[in-house]
Amino acid sequence: MLEKKKGRITSTGVFLPDNRITNQYLEQKVDTSDEWIVTRTGIKERRVLQEDWASSDMAIESAREALEKAELAPEDLDLIILATATPDHLVPSTACIVQSRLGATNAAAFDINAGCSGFVYGLVVGEQFLENGIYTNILVIGVDALSRITDWEDRSTCVLFGDGAGSVILQPHENSKGFMAVNLLSNGDGAEHLMVPAGGSRMPANDNTVKNKKHFVHMNGNEVFKFAVNVVEEVTFSLLNQAGLKAEDLTYLFLHQANLRIIEAARKKLGVEKERLPVNIERFGNMSAASIPVSLHEVVNSGNLNRGDLIAMVAFGAGLTCGGVLLEW
Ligand code: ACO
Repeated sequence: MLEKKKGRITSTGVFLPDNRITNQYLEQKVDTSDEWIVTRTGIKERRVLQEDWASSDMAIESAREALEKAELAPEDLDLIILATATPDHLVPSTACIVQSRLGATNAAAFDINAGCSGFVYGLVVGEQFLENGIYTNILVIGVDALSRITDWEDRSTCVLFGDGAGSVILQPHENSKGFMAVNLLSNGDGAEHLMVPAGGSRMPANDNTVKNKKHFVHMNGNEVFKFAVNVVEEVTFSLLNQAGLKAEDLTYLFLHQANLRIIEAARKKLGVEKERLPVNIERFGNMSAASIPVSLHEVVNSGNLNRGDLIAMVAFGAGLTCGGVLLEW
């Protein structure tokens, strides 16, 4: 008989590539300007992965940091959930590559693809294993190398994305309130608004798909923008209602960093003060599944998050998807 448990995030880790791509650099590559990018998105620079690295390399670096902080050895892990839209390969999962290279010999491992919402989806899935007493030491990773699927000649997308990885360890904790509210929402009607059309079973790779740039991200930015502004508000309020809380009860609200205008619109509608909604988009751009865990890690490292504080994380992205969790830190 499995024993029901409450869990919490024990530690965090990140990896951010050294290579910075500034708006000034992009001004020389495409017809854009620092002014346009900053006013429309809030982004000033983003990180891009070195050529001989892949998502798994970033994931492993972030995972090692989280393991070390949790004082766990790789063999202690029971489960690795890796959220990404940019796996190393279509097959096998990147989680299995990470599992092998970490030496996590006792862990089951699988990927989740929920676009930029992937980390939150992964966290919620991990929590189910923990709460039901199936697994004890769970590694959840959000990693993306969107630079690899970006058309660097398309000004409407190449200014937006950055690469990175963030990991957390989930473990049971007797006195924790655990995950107090969850809301995962999907709207596949909007699938076409954010898509890499080729490379899967619908449009297998051939000369034409390469020539026609079908292996890059194609995005209807306005549609994603409208979806994001509405859904972030809806999901955050639903989390607060489920937990019987108000926005001011949250020490931090972590929002997916896709566009400063989306963040600001949501912040105002939700009535959250600036200090309680961490923003790093100016430094990293949209890191997709890595966005939320990197923001969380930065706040944890600042020393301003204390055990017992209540936090919420809300992300949105390809699918279209949105995911939110409210938990006790
Ligand atoms: N530099 C200069 N001009 C540009 C650029 C650029 N980099 N990009 C677009 N423009 C132009 C357009 O061509 C257009 O010109 P036109 O009026 O002559 O046609 C004009 O700027 C306005 O374009 P819009 O697309 O209407 O600009 P908007 O203000 O909507 O901003 C943006 C575009 C930043 C993409 C915005 O819609 C957005 O952030 N959307 C959300 C994207 C998102 O959140 N994605 C998240 C998920 S990612 C994932 O899951 C992997």
